[in-house]
Order: sequence, then C-alpha cells, then structure tokens
Amino acid sequence: MKLRPGPEKYVPFAPQPIECRTWPDNTVTKAPVWCSVDLRDGNQALIDPMDLQEKLEYFHTLVDIGVKEIEIGFPSASETEYEICRELIEGGHIPEDVTIQVLVQAREHLIRKTFQAIEGAKNVILHFYNSTSTLQRKVVFQMDRAGITKIATDAADLIYEMAQPAIARGMALRYEYSPESFMGTEMDYAVEICAAVLDHLHATAEDKVILNLPTTVENCMPNQFADMLEYFIRKLPGRERAIISLHPHNDRGTGVATTEMGLLAGAERVEATLFGNGERTGNVDMVTLAMNMWTQGVDPKLDFHDINKVRDMYERCTKMRVGERQPYAGELVFTAFSGSHQDAINKGVHYMNESGTDMWEVPYLPIDPADVGRQYEPIIRINSQSGKGGAAFVMMQSFGYDMPKAMHAEFGAVVQKESDRVGTELKPEQIFALFDHEYLSAPKTYQLERHSFQEDARHGDASWVAFDGEVGYKGKVMDAHGEGNGPIDAFFNALHDLPEGHIEGYHFVDYKEHAIASGSDTQAVCYIHLRDPKGRDVFGVGKSHNINRASLRAILCAINRSLM
Ligand code: KIV
Ligand code: ZN
Repeated sequence: MKLRPGPEKYVPFAPQPIECRTWPDNTVTKAPVWCSVDLRDGNQALIDPMDLQEKLEYFHTLVDIGVKEIEIGFPSASETEYEICRELIEGGHIPEDVTIQVLVQAREHLIRKTFQAIEGAKNVILHFYNSTSTLQRKVVFQMDRAGITKIATDAADLIYEMAQPAIARGMALRYEYSPESFMGTEMDYAVEICAAVLDHLHATAEDKVILNLPTTVENCMPNQFADMLEYFIRKLPGRERAIISLHPHNDRGTGVATTEMGLLAGAERVEATLFGNGERTGNVDMVTLAMNMWTQGVDPKLDFHDINKVRDMYERCTKMRVGERQPYAGELVFTAFSGSHQDAINKGVHYMNESGTDMWEVPYLPIDPADVGRQYEPIIRINSQSGKGGAAFVMMQSFGYDMPKAMHAEFGAVVQKESDRVGTELKPEQIFALFDHEYLSAPKTYQLERHSFQEDARHGDASWVAFDGEVGYKGKVMDAHGEGNGPIDAFFNALHDLPEGHIEGYHFVDYKEHAIASGSDTQAVCYIHLRDPKGRDVFGVGKSHNINRASLRAILCAINRSLM
C-alpha cells in the first residue's frame, strides 16, 4: 500500500447529472412522517447500550413527543435486543397508533428470528437492508450487481411469504427496504434494485413499501444529494408504490441540510434521532429538523414544548451529553453575551411588549424560548463583552428593576468594571449586589429621618406642597422645611435651606418610578436623574412602601453619590 499524499488520496464525489432539476423551487410546507431510530441506530452507537429500563423510558418519551413510527431494535442481533422487543409487545407498552419497526439484514435465519420476535405485535414495519454501494460491492461482498440484487430479492420473497400468515392473524405489517450506502451507489443501479424489491414485495399504490435511502456515510453536499434523489424518484418505475424515506447521517456536519433538501426533492419520511445521536457523527437530529420547520410556520407534528425534560431523559438513558450550543436545546442557545446582541434583544423584547405584535420579532433569537419551555432562564448573561443594555436587561428580567434608559450607561460601566476585574461571567445575583452597593446601600452622607407633606391641589395643574421633616447629616439630625409646586420641588427647597451642609446647584433632569413586587409585598422604586453642580449627570435610586419616601430617598441617593 502506498497512499497518495494529503487530500489526493480521497476519491471525490461524482455528482449525478440531472437536467432541469425542480427541487430548488420547492418549499417544505408539511411535516414528513417521522421515524425514530434512537433505539436502534442511536443505541448501537453508545459506549454502553441502553438496558431494558432505559429503552422503555426512552420509548415512552418518543411516544409522548408524538413519534408514530419507532425502530425499536435489531431483535435478531442479540438476546438482549430480542427480549426488549418481547417486553415492549407483551408488556403492553405500545399505543394503538404507534408502529414499531424492527431492522434485519437480508439474511434468511435472521429474518426468521425477526418474525418470531414480532409475534403478537399489532403494527409493525419490517425493515430489511443490504449494501449496494460500489465500494461495499467491491471491498466487502466482492459481488456484481446481479448478486447484490439477488440478496435483496431473495429476502423480499421470504419476508413476503412469512408475512402472509401474520397478516392473516391480524397484524398490520408493512415493509421497508434500505439499499444501505445508497449515497455511494450508481443511481441507475439504485433504481434497478429498489424497483426489483418493490416487485418482489408486491407493492401497489394502496400497499406502499417504504424505500429508505440512507446516507449511511455522508459523502457529498446537500444539493448534490437532492439532485441524486430527484433523479432517483424520476426514474423509479411505479413511484406511487413507494414511500420515499431519508436516513441521513452527519459525517460532513450537513445532515440537517441534506434532509431538508431531500424533502424538497420529494422525500416523504425521515428517520432521525433525538439530538443526533448515532454512529460516528450521528444520525440527523430530529429536534433541529422539527424546530427548523416550526420557525418557518410549519407544524412539525412533534412536541418539544419541554425540551429540558427530553434532554434530561436523553442524557440519563444514553449517558451522552447535549452540547451547550446544540440548536434549540443547548444550555447557551438562548443566551447572548455580546453587548450589541444584548441591546438588540432588549429592544426586541420591549418592542414585542409595547407594539402588541402577534409575530415573533426579536433580533438574535430565531425562536421564542418559551416554545421549548425555556422562558424562565435569563436570556442575557454578562461578561466583559457585554454592553450597557445587558446589565439593565438582567435587572429587569431577574429582579423587576426597570431602569430609565439614560441610566443604563452609568450602571453598565459599573458592571463592566467588575467583570473586567473578576474576568468571568457575572451571575444575576452578582449584578444585583453591584446595583445594591452602588445605589440602594450607597454611603449616606445625607439621610432622610422623617418626613411629612402637606398639599393643596388647586383647580387645573397648580398645586402647593410643603415638606416638613428631619435630615441626618454627619451624625446630626436637622429640621428641614421647604415649599414648592410638588413634593420633589418642596424637598429640594428644604435641602437648600438646611442649617448646615445645605445643598445647592443640583438640577433635576428626570424621574421614573414603578412598583416592584416580591411575594405579596409591593414597593415603589424611584429613579432620579440629577445634574450636579459640576455639570455631571448622576442617578439615584430609592425604594420604599411609600411612594413619596422612595423618591426622596432617590434624590438623596443621587446627591450622596455625587459627593463620593
Ligand atoms: O445508516 C444506514 O445505512 C443504516 C441502515 C441499516 C438503514 O442504518
Ligand atoms: Zn444509519
């Protein structure tokens, strides 16, 4: 053996020539028939295959998700697989509307064993396969096309013959044939062998046979696969006798695209696994396919409204881990760290609330996290890449503090400084602690000890308010009195007239308040924006059960902070 150097040792894929392809003009408008191969293809790829209890739990989850065709295993392959098949059937685990699928090689003794394994089941797909690719014919079977076709048609004959008594006893039995390694087979030969199998199984438009066309090892670009498929379907004699099924693997990382383009090219059924578990780089991921449809307004007819529950089951039973960036399901996929993304998400959420739109229109979030049960997690997380809007968003989402926009930059800078200092992500609780330290518990040079207001509201807008109270300053408590056209004005005037440490030169810029509830306790939060005597913008926050006290505390907070 003397390999060519570098990439030259690989045989490049030879695309199937096709005239006037039509698939690129199609769109996916309805869900395919889904078949889960988690318990077979997925299971055979695990370091520790699932035991009976795990398979049963997995099976029931698939049923809950709404999968109606489930490949439960390879019952002729081992005693364990056989027993699991029997338990599913005898233990009454299979709902009336669910069809179990069993896989078998196109070999007589295995087919006979498989028929024993399915005895008593109500709805069954008997799935048989043999390899058809040029490579497998040359390297593994050392057989010509006629020999390979004979393996398939002999198996078809035996299956058809053995099926008749089972069907007569009431089993709804259907057939599936896979030309394994279809993607490496000459298309004219793939058509020939599949047509022969259809004939031997007596397929008709009423009694269709599933032709499952696997990308056993992904070897080409998704558009090239779609060309192959369109060509295959065009050439297949009696196409109406077949349900065209896809079984993509993910060796090039394009299993999802291959499936989607395969659907455009005429496929009607998809074999997939949750989170893409399967041999090598996996089978195509059913969750991504389904949720991709969902985001295009197409109901996939699968229920992933609680993706964390499905993920937990998957991780428990397979002992595999769903990656943080796995589409729709990963821990981080609804999290934005970058400042510009955070700002845009923040604006999108505000826009959704304020505009009353009935469409999902949030930048950087292709899906409403609530659709997969992720609404309670913080969408925005904070690290040194984060911008001013991110910290404000966390304060609103996690703690209910809706800071005025003008204040975002000031608090954002506080958070940024801290995240630069610690060098790691800041959790919402740490952000709240910064907010508390900076505003609510800021050092109190001035402190409100007591207050009362007297007011006289006249007709129209005119009003008169008198403030009377006590203000602490450097350990002393001073009486304070002031009058004005509103409580804030009266308080400012009282501060100006303090006997000691009187306050002047501050300009009121803006004010915002809202209620904040925790349990049955509701308090008012007030944000004050002042311009200090040096012309600097400064903010203060006050909180109290009493609205007036909240605003007075906010004013003193801003003043105290400007003196630091
Ligand atoms: O990937 C494959 O080709 C298979 C077949 C057995 C359908 O799993
Ligand atoms: Zn497979």
